[in-house]
Amino acid sequence: MKEELKNIADVFYVRILSPASRIDIMWVNKVFKELGIKDESIEKIAELNAPLSREVWYYSFIKAQEEGKLDAYLNRIVEITGFQESERIKKDLEALRLAYKNGVFKKNLFKIAVLVSGRGTNLQAIIDAIEEGKIEGKIVGVISNRKKAYALERAKKKGIPTYYLPARKGESREEYDKRLDEIISSLNPDLIVLAGFLRILSPWFVRKYKGRIINIHPALLPSFAGLYGEHVHRAVIEYGCKVSGCTVHFVDEKVDHGPIIVQKCVEVKDDDTPETLAARILEKEHESLVEAIKLISEDRIKVEGRRVIRIS
Ligand code: GRF
Repeated sequence: MKEELKNIADVFYVRILSPASRIDIMWVNKVFKELGIKDESIEKIAELNAPLSREVWYYSFIKAQEEGKLDAYLNRIVEITGFQESERIKKDLEALRLAYKNGVFKKNLFKIAVLVSGRGTNLQAIIDAIEEGKIEGKIVGVISNRKKAYALERAKKKGIPTYYLPARKGESREEYDKRLDEIISSLNPDLIVLAGFLRILSPWFVRKYKGRIINIHPALLPSFAGLYGEHVHRAVIEYGCKVSGCTVHFVDEKVDHGPIIVQKCVEVKDDDTPETLAARILEKEHESLVEAIKLISEDRIKVEGRRVIRIS
């Protein structure tokens, strides 16, 4: 996807910016004023008479889009350049806008791969946190072992590359993980997030990505390890626990076991059902996962044995 979008960017650069050279930052500034778009950054760059770089170019159309004036902006481009394929321009620009929002063109962004099997509300929380600027990073790929996982749809909607990797009959965990690794290594993520991924990773994979895989578990570990979904909440209620919650932890070779990064609690109420408890915990899961990814991406934790210490 990155390559494809880079090509589109190049086409634009060649087709619109370079040959004309009639479009420079002064022009962008002038048209923005014409359209009533106020933007300090563009004004400042115009004052400096700096060249119209690709980044400024992307920025200008995103701004125009946000102001609901992209069409007018593009029409002026077409007018000035005499370039007639405006429909195509609009389509290409839309793809670029999406890519820009997902950070494809930003350098050195923290890269996250997300592994899923289900509805993907935790994935959504990460997507939202990135869009809201809470996490400085980008999701480089979402991989699911289940074709119907709604998480894949959530990713597609945002232009994030998706991969469906079903298990093969009779295949060992390690064999699956070697195929998984073909995708992962091509994405080269800084962090692998298991967000409702219903597979246990092989020791081979866990060792290869030691300290770079995290998981979210809907209970307060080490209690109720190894259970998933509704089973966890049912077990918590049946045991008579007064609190439950969620745990984000590094993944090691034992299930639900690695060093704990973030935990959050909720009260277990007398009239709770597994569903009501799950719903309250899910809200905490979203907060916890975002918090953990933020801490890791900002390099604000260190691991000492089992303890994850925050560095302020
Ligand atoms: C969450 O409860 C998570 O703790 C568990 O699987 C569930 C995934 O939910 N590991 P979602 O697909 O992110 O909505």
